[in-house]
Amino acid sequence: MKLWGGRFTKETNQLVYNFNASISFDQKFYKQDIRGSIAHVTMLAKQGILTAKEKEAITAGLVSIEQDIENGTLAIDSTSEDIHSFVEATLIDRIGDVGKKLHTGRSRNDQVALDMKLYTRDEIRETDDLLKKLLTTLLHLMEEHLDTYMPGFTHLQKAQPVTLAHHIGAYFEMFKRDRSRLSDILKRMNTCPLGAGALAGTTYPLDREYSASLLGFDGPTLNSMDSVSDRDYLIEFLSALSMIMMHLSRFCEEIILWNSNEYRFVELDDSYSTGSSIMPQKKNPDIAELIRGKVGRVYGALQSLLVTMKGLPLAYNKDMQEDKELSFDAMDTVKGCLALFEGMISTMRFNKAVMEASAKNGFTNATDAADYLVNHGVPFRDAHGIVGQLVLHCIEKNIALDDMTLEEFKAVSPVFEADIYDAISLKTCVEKRLTIGAPGKAAMEKVIAQYKEYLG
Ligand code: ARG
Repeated sequence: MKLWGGRFTKETNQLVYNFNASISFDQKFYKQDIRGSIAHVTMLAKQGILTAKEKEAITAGLVSIEQDIENGTLAIDSTSEDIHSFVEATLIDRIGDVGKKLHTGRSRNDQVALDMKLYTRDEIRETDDLLKKLLTTLLHLMEEHLDTYMPGFTHLQKAQPVTLAHHIGAYFEMFKRDRSRLSDILKRMNTCPLGAGALAGTTYPLDREYSASLLGFDGPTLNSMDSVSDRDYLIEFLSALSMIMMHLSRFCEEIILWNSNEYRFVELDDSYSTGSSIMPQKKNPDIAELIRGKVGRVYGALQSLLVTMKGLPLAYNKDMQEDKELSFDAMDTVKGCLALFEGMISTMRFNKAVMEASAKNGFTNATDAADYLVNHGVPFRDAHGIVGQLVLHCIEKNIALDDMTLEEFKAVSPVFEADIYDAISLKTCVEKRLTIGAPGKAAMEKVIAQYKEYLG
């Protein structure tokens, strides 16, 4: 059934109809559409615009439509223009003329604005749940690896030793910020556009506060033109999703490196890796690579909507129908990636011995050797130079700082004594870093206690 046509004398060209139609993708929010309609008729009845009986009939009809779509007895008709027309036509088909009253005091413009908001709100909550689950897994790993030493890198060069708990903690912070971004968006977007009509409100005495409260909003939107043309919240969500993907892809990149033959810091579980069709020895980190690769489409969705919305005059324009397909894809992609990433990391094995050995070679304790000299009165700049000479000496002899004899130390600076070995041991290097946010175990334990409280 067409929702319009009275003023037309010709049939729509088939190509035009297909080009215009959105049913193939907006059917994704049939639940939200029905939920919004039920709230709308409930409000209409409260205001005496519909009778209680009419409201009952319409609501029962809408509930039956939702149930039947759900249990597969009602197929969404792909020849309908959009999900709004499909639901309305099915309703009229089922309950007769009273169904035609559903759209009183409403336009598809405020309807679609509502549906998209409801859908986005649900998606934000689902994404947040997945983030929380991932954070819980990360926290467990942190607790398990407080003493797992590994090199920390800058410029992908070994820099100073850290622990695996500390490294994972960096990602904990990132995903925690992601959650807080989501909750900011939820707060800002939580106003209800229903009742804004096509663009200028309606002449019916609608109670917009009431519909807003029925749908869990903080209140109604305050400008009807903005209500039907606002997609800011969706752009914000796509931006938050892009950031989540950036964080996932950085972590994936590290896992790909760590899983390589050269590093061997980790081994992916067989259930989370794949083989090669030609090279029998291969066990590839495809999941991590795919997550890294899927960042492109999520950034793309953000960029696409920014461009679509740019320069649009008030109020509703059909361009805005383009807010859906790529956004839906981005939302599904991120949820999938979060779930898979969580599964991958919770089944992965960490080769503690290899990580520790790697932290030992590569002069990650050079800063600590310089700090030793500073603690014995040598100015830092001089200490830096002295340790530089030691490193050069070690490189020539292909040994680590710890392997040098005390005579060799003393030959470069007489300040060194036998306690230098303890001062530059891996354990000391890590455990002495006790300022909040540093990898030392006692410092990490304080942070972990805060994380536990945060996750509740
Ligand atoms: N399918 C449309 C969309 O997604 C629904 C709103 C239609 N409104 C209109 N004035 N044609 O934006």
